[in-house]
Amino acid sequence: MDMRVLGIETSCDETGVAIYDTAAGLLAHRLHSQIDLHARYGGVVPELASRDHVRRLVPLIEEVAHEAGTRLADLDGIACTEGPGLAGALLVGASVANALAMSLGKPVIGVHHLEGHLLSPLLGTPRPGFPFVALLVSGGHTQFYDVAGVGRYRLIGDTLDDAAGEAFDKTATLLGLPYPGGPALAKLAGSGRKGVVSLPRPMIDSGDLAMSFSGLKTAVMTLVRRREADGTLDADSRADIAAEFQHAVVDVLVAKALAALVATGVKRLVVAGGVGANRELRARLEYEVAARGASVYFPDLAFCTDNGAMIALAGAMRLAQADIGGGAFSVRPRWELASLPSVAAASD
Ligand code: KG4
Ligand code: ZN
Repeated sequence: MDMRVLGIETSCDETGVAIYDTAAGLLAHRLHSQIDLHARYGGVVPELASRDHVRRLVPLIEEVAHEAGTRLADLDGIACTEGPGLAGALLVGASVANALAMSLGKPVIGVHHLEGHLLSPLLGTPRPGFPFVALLVSGGHTQFYDVAGVGRYRLIGDTLDDAAGEAFDKTATLLGLPYPGGPALAKLAGSGRKGVVSLPRPMIDSGDLAMSFSGLKTAVMTLVRRREADGTLDADSRADIAAEFQHAVVDVLVAKALAALVATGVKRLVVAGGVGANRELRARLEYEVAARGASVYFPDLAFCTDNGAMIALAGAMRLAQADIGGGAFSVRPRWELASLPSVAAASD
């Protein structure tokens, strides 16, 4: 059945809203980024994030509905990011979604943020079919999943410590770049030379799909300290370090992605999450994956980082599969009585 769903993303520092229709595709989307709001603090301030979501969300919903030419009453459901994320920020999205849904008599679909990222390449064309291997590379995750269908995700590889995006952000800070570090570091890398400094490719030959990025960041720290001490940390050497750092991360991600395709025997690779916006990673994967007779799919740049479209898409696909009627709410068919949280006895 065709489903038209409003998606709301408020898990961190972007307010994302979109309407996705399972027959017509993405009808409209809007994003408000809080980068300027948090920049002077060098990172996301949760309370400021929540308050800004409160300010932005309702006007964005009105804009999206207008652009999509859809009355809210014509929606089949409202999807919101249920987690993981900042509690206060998530609550803003969930409150608005539930209030709207209740007033309209529609179901709410609570979407897992990572499922949104993982399915985001389905927003593009050509659209990857199932099964595919997904490389999820964001600020908090660097994982490989064997994806057989919606909700059928088998984790096959993970980082043992820092996520790739986290390594980009921390390395950017070491190089004196402003928040958000990943894109700034990638930009600096564009003017640097690879191979001038040498950095490790952690676990590239480990023979499995495990990864580690914290050692790379530490290697950069050692390099930066040494160059600071001997006075050779100038603009050029910063750019060279950035270029080699990016090269090292891309080398590892490409090697592991190819290994994941071999391990699963799957011919489609999907890349999702903020680091998926990295141009060097995209170019290298395009080349290397094609050279092995497989295909790689990326979301459009706008849908690599957090957005409402991926939440609307995941919500619509779930709603279409579950065939939930209007006004339905979710229940927990398997719920052990013993799992109820205990209530402290009143003290006398
Ligand atoms: O998926 P995302 O928007 O948020 C979550 O972590 O869920 O990913 C953000 C991460 C940050 O670590 C950011 O620095 C990184 O993605 N990132 C990039 C680029 N754009 C964003 N890293 C490398 N190159 C980029 N162009
Ligand atoms: Zn994300």
